[in-house]
This record gives sequence, C-alpha cells and structure tokens, in this order.
Amino acid sequence: EKGGFDHFMLKEIFEQPRSIADSMRGRVNADTGLLLLGGLRDYLDKLAASKRIVIVGCGTSWHAGLVAEYIFEELARIPVEVEYASEFRYRNPIISEGDIVIAISQSGETADTLAAIELAKSKGATIFGVCNVVGSSIARATHAGAYTHAGPEIGVASTKAFTAQVTVLTLMALAAAQRKGVIADSLFRQLLVELESIPAKVEKVLQAAEKIKEIAYIFTYARNFIYLGRGLNFPVALEGALKLKEISYIHAEGYPAAEMKHGPIALIDEDMPVVVIATKDSSYEKVVSNIQEVKARKGRVIAITTEGDTQLPGMVDFTIEIPKVHEVLMPLVSVVPLQLLAYDVAVMRGRNVDQPRNLAKSVTVE
Ligand code: F6R
Repeated sequence: EKGGFDHFMLKEIFEQPRSIADSMRGRVNADTGLLLLGGLRDYLDKLAASKRIVIVGCGTSWHAGLVAEYIFEELARIPVEVEYASEFRYRNPIISEGDIVIAISQSGETADTLAAIELAKSKGATIFGVCNVVGSSIARATHAGAYTHAGPEIGVASTKAFTAQVTVLTLMALAAAQRKGVIADSLFRQLLVELESIPAKVEKVLQAAEKIKEIAYIFTYARNFIYLGRGLNFPVALEGALKLKEISYIHAEGYPAAEMKHGPIALIDEDMPVVVIATKDSSYEKVVSNIQEVKARKGRVIAITTEGDTQLPGMVDFTIEIPKVHEVLMPLVSVVPLQLLAYDVAVMRGRNVDQPRNLAKSVTVE
C-alpha cells in the first residue's frame, strides 16, 4: 500500500509530479491556449468582477492561501486577504455581497473552516471551495469550486495536497485574469506552457533526494531551525518550518527574509541552521544580502538555489539546486526539497512520521 516507500509521507512527496498533473488534467491545454474549470463556469464572471477576495483555511491550507494571495493580486489584480479560519469566524468580519470567499481544505472537514464558510455565507458572500475530498462537508457548503486531484493523502503532514491546492488556485487566478481582461495573452499562454512543465521539474527535484538526506543527517540533532524566503517563497518558508515542526518536533520558524533584522537575527549563532529559499527571481539580490547577514553571525546556511547559480555555493554551507521556474509558479517546485528535508530529519530522529504525536489528519473539533 505504501508502494515500496517506507512511509506514506514519502510516497506522497514522490507522487507530486502526478498529483500536480492530475490537478491540471482536462483543465489546461497549452497547445490550444485553453483553460477550463468546469466547477467555476457559472461563477467566473462574479469572480472576475469581485472587488475583494478573502481566503480562509488552516495550517498548510492557509499557507497555500498565502501563495494564492500573491498570484491573484499579480495576475488578476484583485485585492486578497488571507485569514486563519479560526480567527475569521470569531471576529465580526466585514463581508458584503460581491465579496468572494475561497475556502481551502484538503479533508473538507476542518471545523473552523466550515464555520467560517457558514458565517461568510450568512453575510451574502459567494463561496468557492478548493477541496481534495469529493463530497466532503466543505465541498458541499460552497457555491462553486474546483477540486484538487491529489488522491487520498494518508500521511498526517500535508504534502501533495499543498502543491495540488497551489496548482488549482493558480488556474483560478489565471481564469479570473483572462475573464477580467487584465492579463496579456502572451503571458497567459506562457504560464500555461510553464504549468505543464512543472511535473517534470518536480521530478528533477526528487532526484536530489539522496543529497538532501546527507544534509538532513548533518542537522539531525539541531534544536532549532529558521526558514527564510521572500515574495512567493515566504509562504514556502512557513510551510517548510511547519513540516519540520510537526513531524520531527524540532522548533522551527519561518520568516520573510527581510524581517530577520527586526528580531530573529538575535537567535543566530554557529548552532543555528538557516534554510533560505534563494532562487533566481526578482528578490534574488535582496535574499543574497540577507544570507550575508546570517553568515556574518556564523549561522549555517542551507540554500535552495536555481540550477546554474555560481554565486551562492561559495557563500553558504550547503546548496540544493532546483530547476528554473517562472516566478509565479515557483512554490510548486521550491517547497519539495523542504518536504524531503523535514521527512529525512524526522526519520533520522526515529519519529513516527506518518502519525506524529498529538496530531490528527482532519481536525473536526474547533
Ligand atoms: C499540516 C497539516 C495541517 C492541515 C490543517 C488543515 O501538514 O496537515 O496543518 O493543513 O489541519 O487541514 P485541511 O486542509 O484538511 O482543512
């Protein structure tokens, strides 16, 4: 049942080329330039015309929401707020008709997310769902939506569901941008082509599994980790830290790289591993100077770099290369080495990776 893998989590990490492809199948055709999301058809005009989108979710699904915030704002030019479902539901949130709420949930059963939907619905919002489990409570409570096709996720730590969520949210943003007429046709076509190339790029990252294992071995007994990223890679830093925390029980924090100097930099010494997502994108130069700040304080830097980067290997302790990816789609690829790193550290520590202590696969109590 684990398909030859030691744990479901590892199997699910390795399934991502397929689960990402499955989440696009029948929806994206780069050759014809067509993008079709059946479950959104009747509501696409409403999404494109909306003045505001509120995204709700918990945990990893909330991180997918943060990635989607960047993508929706960049491509569709619609303002987005991302809320923890548990915070949203206990405020008196300002929601009006015309607002769109997107609820993200792998299980479709998370109590806080479901309650957030009911509240937003009662205030007249239109609710879209991005769920993995067909017919789940959240999927049924929404007006429209698009399923992720990740297949069953057994490991408690969410991996393939996250990349499937980001894939589907990207498609939603592209569809809204096109309907609204705010995306150049050439960029639209380019992103469809790039999307279709993502599964092969994730496959390439998976080939670095042995190297990642060697790095994990060196840091198995670290007591803390910091994860840094900027832009679309900031939520990826949060997600990398969450993966490590939940399955290895090592304290880890994700930060936007530039925030480090406003406090967390005080934590850095020769015992502190700092994982930096330092891919070649619009914030590359800035991230490089953040790395210099860490190295000046003797922190040990593991950098996720773009293939062919010749500058960083001489500056940092370890590099993990990933293929070049369009900036908007970067999280789909940059999160994968962080999933593997967390997995390897947890296994080396002898943890119960698939069923970490105190955690349940779906949180149906508030
Ligand atoms: C982290 C994890 C949790 C879930 C969260 C939301 O690896 O699995 O943080 O992401 O409980 O669950 P869903 O997406 O089912 O609503």
